[in-house]
Amino acid sequence: MPTLDWLNRDAAFRLAHQVPYRLLEPVSAHGDGDARNLLVQGDNLEALKALLPLYRAQVKCIFIDPPYNTKSAFEHYDDNLEHSQWLTMMLPRLQLLREFLREDGSIWVTIDDNEGHYLKVLMDEVFGRLCFVDTVIWQKADSPRNSARQFSSDHDYVFVYSLQPGWVPTRLERTEEANSIYSNPDDDDRGPWLPGDPYANKPYSRGQYSIAGPTGRTFAPPPGRFWRVSEEKLRELDADGRVWWGPTGDARPSIKRYLSEVGNLVPRTFWSKDEVGSNRTSKNEMRALFPDAASFTTPKPERLVRRALEIATDLDDLVLDSFLGSGTTAAVAHKMGRRWIGIEAGDHAVTHCLPRLEKVLAGEPGGISAAVNWQGGGGFRFLRLGAPVFDAAGRIDPQVRFASLAAHVWQQETRSAYVSPLPGAVAGTPLVGTHDGRAIYLLYNGILGDRRPEGGNVLTLAVLQALKAVVPHDGPKVVYAEACRLGEARLAAEGIVFRQIPYELAGR
Ligand SMILES: C[S@@+](CC[C@H](N)C(=O)[O-])C[C@H]1O[C@@H](n2cnc3c(N)ncnc32)[C@H](O)[C@@H]1O
Repeated sequence: MPTLDWLNRDAAFRLAHQVPYRLLEPVSAHGDGDARNLLVQGDNLEALKALLPLYRAQVKCIFIDPPYNTKSAFEHYDDNLEHSQWLTMMLPRLQLLREFLREDGSIWVTIDDNEGHYLKVLMDEVFGRLCFVDTVIWQKADSPRNSARQFSSDHDYVFVYSLQPGWVPTRLERTEEANSIYSNPDDDDRGPWLPGDPYANKPYSRGQYSIAGPTGRTFAPPPGRFWRVSEEKLRELDADGRVWWGPTGDARPSIKRYLSEVGNLVPRTFWSKDEVGSNRTSKNEMRALFPDAASFTTPKPERLVRRALEIATDLDDLVLDSFLGSGTTAAVAHKMGRRWIGIEAGDHAVTHCLPRLEKVLAGEPGGISAAVNWQGGGGFRFLRLGAPVFDAAGRIDPQVRFASLAAHVWQQETRSAYVSPLPGAVAGTPLVGTHDGRAIYLLYNGILGDRRPEGGNVLTLAVLQALKAVVPHDGPKVVYAEACRLGEARLAAEGIVFRQIPYELAGR
């Protein structure tokens, strides 16, 4: 497959693996403190790495609005990376983000012409061309910018990719505007309808005949075209009142398409400012939220994010935005009854996201609130990135708690998220959980008590006997510990694979 090349591409491909593994430190709880919603302040590469053990394959929709590389210095962040650096910034983040997606998940990325076409090729490589769903054109401008030297840009793109090919979007609720083109000129009991095209372009063996209408006038398909149904079927539909021959009965027949029988609306690729708001809409939303503070300069309108979440998520699904900006995705997800994780590196995580989300909990009436009948409620936790788990020499920071390391070990061994309680786990013991018949043990922080060598962090015969007594398991076992005093033969006889901490832990 053709791929994009740039300076440091190879290094960029190693970055996601090399980024230090940090823990997340709780800072504060807001509203009812619902721990299912998280605002994280920190660089998203490190934050994603820290969150992955807990949320691998859990996220239904990722909506990100990364810096577009417009060469501007915005008030709250700089948007001026050298072209290769921008690609190097995006690649490892996209790679990590992909790991968060559920089987039925999708990722939505807003972008413009500065990097859009390069991003498309990059995303083709990370997500697979078969998983490219479509490009949405969002009409961001209300009016032309006459000062533009060449063209006044009216739109941004939203690239949509799914984790699996063949992803099916949720259809959108019908709007009054979409319904307004249906009418009922003949007072049909089945309600309003649209005259459907009776012809097919593709050859149809039973689609070439002449048929007489109510006035005796006969009709045949135009040259090269065919009736879309057979003569018998057309007569059957006519007998049932489903064929329209025009107001005087001598027009060519149309097959009625009833409003009551058409489904919800398939998403389209052009999203107008009237439907989902424009840059002006989001600026007004910002002003209403922060009348006294400096507005965040590059927000998205709430309705734009709402449209994406309507198509890509259901109630209670988890939404992730790792370039949170002023907090739009989190605010919209919250108002729509979705769970959310938002990551923002800048100070505006505190100056904008936090107060905005607190206002959401209090029921602020702006943005999509009226449309979704948002009354307030719920909560979230605010977290920051903590110290790296491993120091420069590769040792584990002694502050790291057993549960945190267990989450890391679990996801490394099973490639699945750590959801408490894990299957087979026994709290307060080294048994982290069982997966596919394999028990995963972690000897760390003296979990077995201080009487044993190195506080029980070494796999000795005595520790093995203790494990067998406290948390026995008949099948294969994996034991993570600082050292092992058992010989190869003993390990094999016991069905144990030993992994040494910290050397065999990924993420250093
Ligand atoms: C275009 S803004 C997002 C705006 C957002 N959609 C909104 O409606 O407010 C991009 C954001 O990404 C943040 N950002 C850039 N690089 C980041 C990184 N490495 N980690 C976390 N956030 C980052 C910037 O600080 C900025 O707030």
